[in-house]
Amino acid sequence: MKTFSVKNLEIGSGLPKIAVPVQGKTPAELISRALLAEPAADLLEIRLDGLRDPGDEAALRSLSRGLREAVRLPLLFTLRTASEGGEAALSEEAYASVLRFLLRECRPDLLDVEFLRMEAKKLLLEARELGIPTVASFHDFRKTPEPAKIGELFRQMSAAGAFAAKAAVMPEREADVESVLSAALSLKKTMDIPWLLIAMGESGRITRYGAEQMGSCLTFGAAGDASAPGQIDAGELREILRRRHEGKEDIFLIGFMGAGKSRIARELSAMTGWKVFEADRRIEELCKRTIPEIFRESGEAYFRKKEREVLDSLFREGRCVVSCGGGMALRASNVLQMQALGHIVLLRARPETILSRVSKHPDTRPLLAGRLSVEGIAGLMAQRDPQYHRAAEIIVDTDGRTPREIAEEILKNL
Ligand code: S3P
Repeated sequence: MKTFSVKNLEIGSGLPKIAVPVQGKTPAELISRALLAEPAADLLEIRLDGLRDPGDEAALRSLSRGLREAVRLPLLFTLRTASEGGEAALSEEAYASVLRFLLRECRPDLLDVEFLRMEAKKLLLEARELGIPTVASFHDFRKTPEPAKIGELFRQMSAAGAFAAKAAVMPEREADVESVLSAALSLKKTMDIPWLLIAMGESGRITRYGAEQMGSCLTFGAAGDASAPGQIDAGELREILRRRHEGKEDIFLIGFMGAGKSRIARELSAMTGWKVFEADRRIEELCKRTIPEIFRESGEAYFRKKEREVLDSLFREGRCVVSCGGGMALRASNVLQMQALGHIVLLRARPETILSRVSKHPDTRPLLAGRLSVEGIAGLMAQRDPQYHRAAEIIVDTDGRTPREIAEEILKNL
């Protein structure tokens, strides 16, 4: 792998680097935003396409001078054209001419070159001659190309002299995210230059926080507004990358009320030494009320908001076995958060088993009021099952088994 350095930052080795994009209408605005974004980033992406006139040479010159004086981090200059999701509506000639000006007069630490632009290959070579590293990039905001196509594109980028290859694509369905992950698997084996592959949007977030496991050399995090769909906060991203790198992944137990999440969490905790994190108890502590009181006085929507807050607070904990409330996995954004931090395990039980368990404390579960029968439970379970199954990495049946057996099966599967 031909790693390379921008300032003191080596791209292609160690943890993926975090690039934070900054945009602004004027050089002064871009510089002040760059300063604000600096603490969260390893590298700043200066998005020139938001400038009022990205072709204004005097503005580009004063911007690059100002940035050099004010900012310490390496800078990636990017002129994202409208055809690739940016704001610059430029002709092919105008794009090439701005990039040439940047190369000769601004000498960025790193330059983004859109690989589909007419003069891309020439620009990549010119940059190489000037000793300026480049990222050849490709964006598709409508769909996800086949893995083989992405591989072919990256090989062409490398052959054309790019220092790094980048593709950001838009998944239309879940299978597209899997196809991006499988593209990454083969890139990992075959690429000779550092690369990064992003599936945009919420469903593609795993490609951002899982950058290291995928093999990406760089990942984009937001400081303030996201510059592309699915970007997450750079500070949060750094924390997730670190935790994943250290293998400190939590276990999230999800499933219907009475499936045994709390009991199995205690068993797993005893076996691993990780802490039990009871989401519902945290909500009760946070609100200083019981779950039935919260539902009665503030409503379910309020409870779901608190559920989310509690999930967010996990960043501050050590490694945990998290016992989730039965509704936690019903929200896609909660599931993404859990997948970022660890492994989701679905505990299943038959409605008859659930009924016998929850009947012991019928008042503690407001959503079962009026449903305390096998049919009532089966009905709500049928509504929820597709979401539970979609979220889960591991599915474990609990009927007729001891907590020890169940916990052992979970640890074996992880
Ligand atoms: C809920 C399940 C409960 C609790 C709340 C809502 C749900 O947790 O979070 O009553 O929507 O299924 P348990 O699954 O631990 O009972």
